[in-house]
Amino acid sequence: MALVSSTPLLSTARAEGYCIGAFNVHTLEMLQAVVEAAEETRSPLIIQSTVGTVKHLGADYIAAAATVAANRSSVPIALHLDHCSDFNIIMQCIRAGYTSVMIDASHDPFDKNVAETRKVVEAASAVGVNVEAELGRVGGVEDDIVVDERDALLADPEECARFVELTGVHTLAPAIGTAHGIYKGDPNIDFDRIGRIASRVSVPLVLHGGSGIPEDQVRRAVSLGMSKMNVATELRIVFSDAIKQVFANNPDENDPRKYMVPAKQALKAAAIEKMRLCGSIGKA
Ligand code: 13P
Repeated sequence: MALVSSTPLLSTARAEGYCIGAFNVHTLEMLQAVVEAAEETRSPLIIQSTVGTVKHLGADYIAAAATVAANRSSVPIALHLDHCSDFNIIMQCIRAGYTSVMIDASHDPFDKNVAETRKVVEAASAVGVNVEAELGRVGGVEDDIVVDERDALLADPEECARFVELTGVHTLAPAIGTAHGIYKGDPNIDFDRIGRIASRVSVPLVLHGGSGIPEDQVRRAVSLGMSKMNVATELRIVFSDAIKQVFANNPDENDPRKYMVPAKQALKAAAIEKMRLCGSIGKA
């Protein structure tokens, strides 16, 4: 089937209480690996690219590869642009074929975040593309930060409700204590806050920083209303480690297929584990 918007996938996930893995990919093999994982487990899938990867590969190349994957696949697949604060890049990605985009103006004051998000929602909605926005600040939260400061970085439930109402955004990523990258200790997730946000906001919620969150904490976040989980770092590590292993055993290897195939298999297995954790297996 063709690439689909992530809106219906995530709305169904929210209504039925499961989550969809959104996996950042940087190469064709990474993209194929997560698609194979979705196919094998009958799981809906969101493929993501960062702005950096768009600049590295080209939105047209990424969209073309994702379109071929979706056309060959019998599970629904959306292509999402992760964290982007540049309206022009968002429009270029939509034009290239992305079916979901994130406008990240969370670094701006509330009113500017609303205005920037609205602008993208108006343009994207006209062509059936999902828009995700962020409220509060994910990441940069240090373990020793004082409570008041930490609280100021996390999304306020009333503000979340107002933000969704003012912007019409389709999915919301509220900062609830996760961070991008691998955690030094356990993440400090504010589960009570997830519950309070979910009770005020009916759109699907997005859990950023999905790498390294203990399994029971992912399940708890999903049960409280998180419908999309972004995973990047952990998958990159698995993919790269498999390549390193090939070179450790054979430093003279020079056939990319010899190191890409094991890397793809390792990534596929890791993606399946995340899908299991999300509860999306068999939902396609
Ligand atoms: P991780 O790199 O921690 O998995 O975070 C991914 C993410 O949230 C991308 O938006």
